[in-house]
Amino acid sequence: MTPGSQAIADAAQRHFTQGCRAEQGVERAEGEKLELLELAVRTALSAAELITRTRGELGDLTAYTSTKSSEVDPVTVVDQQAEAHIVGSLSAARPRDGFVGEEGAQAASESGVTWYVDPIDGTVNFLYGIAQYAVSIAAAEGERLLVGVVVNVATGTLYAAVEGSGAIAVNARGVEVLAGPRPAPLQQSLLATGFSYNAQRRAAQAELLTQLLPRVRDVRRMGSAALDLCALAAGQVDLYFEHGLHSWDFAAGALIATEAGLAIHRPKLDTPGADGAAIVGGQLENVRALERVIGGNLPLG
Ligand code: IPD
Repeated sequence: MTPGSQAIADAAQRHFTQGCRAEQGVERAEGEKLELLELAVRTALSAAELITRTRGELGDLTAYTSTKSSEVDPVTVVDQQAEAHIVGSLSAARPRDGFVGEEGAQAASESGVTWYVDPIDGTVNFLYGIAQYAVSIAAAEGERLLVGVVVNVATGTLYAAVEGSGAIAVNARGVEVLAGPRPAPLQQSLLATGFSYNAQRRAAQAELLTQLLPRVRDVRRMGSAALDLCALAAGQVDLYFEHGLHSWDFAAGALIATEAGLAIHRPKLDTPGADGAAIVGGQLENVRALERVIGGNLPLG
């Protein structure tokens, strides 16, 4: 890791070590969560460096890009290399853990811990050079999210959360404890959302937006679900919802927003994105108000 990344990793680890101690002793579970955090932070920051370096070496990505679930769903060799790097780093340290990765990594857990990995969340932004794409890594035990780490590759900001110990953003300026947006009524809320790669679901999402837009302050579609959830945790938007995400898109960001004190209603980690289930996050009253408009947790076809 570069000295800059190392300083960010050290600051995050220091924050959670001190935070956990202040909250009554580092028990075994806390100790293990801190180990998972250290590994996830180190791995995510080194993956971010790999992504930036490789993109610089490759230049124009056209020849290194193919499509996945539909012709508008791109994957680059950089996504694949970053996932291989992440899985290699995590499994070298913890060979008995399981994996669910966007680019195909799949292994059953023998230890009880499973990692959810999105090597580049916001691949379309990455492809177009828009500075809003992220490495997203979460560790879970069943449905319990233990640790979540998201790195905005273009800005270098690291977001991290440990179950029960809060959420932070760390960059060269220091550590910020995340506490979400102030409570606001739906009609004054800035709402982040995203769209599927599937044309039929997109049409349904557009239909839903026609009902929502007149009822909120405005809508943002920034292109990375992981960073949308971090923006929510940082209070840069009031609400977030999306239908049909995969667990690797939301796992880390969902813990970061939860640990920032927000209500996150999400699908189970093993729910396929194809089911069209909703994730909704924000201050609880506002989440309820949004759910009344979008039909609660009804999946979108
Ligand atoms: C996508 C992004 C986007 C969201 C899509 C996701 P990817 O992930 O998170 O914001 O709207 O639903 O699939 O493909 O860039 O990893």
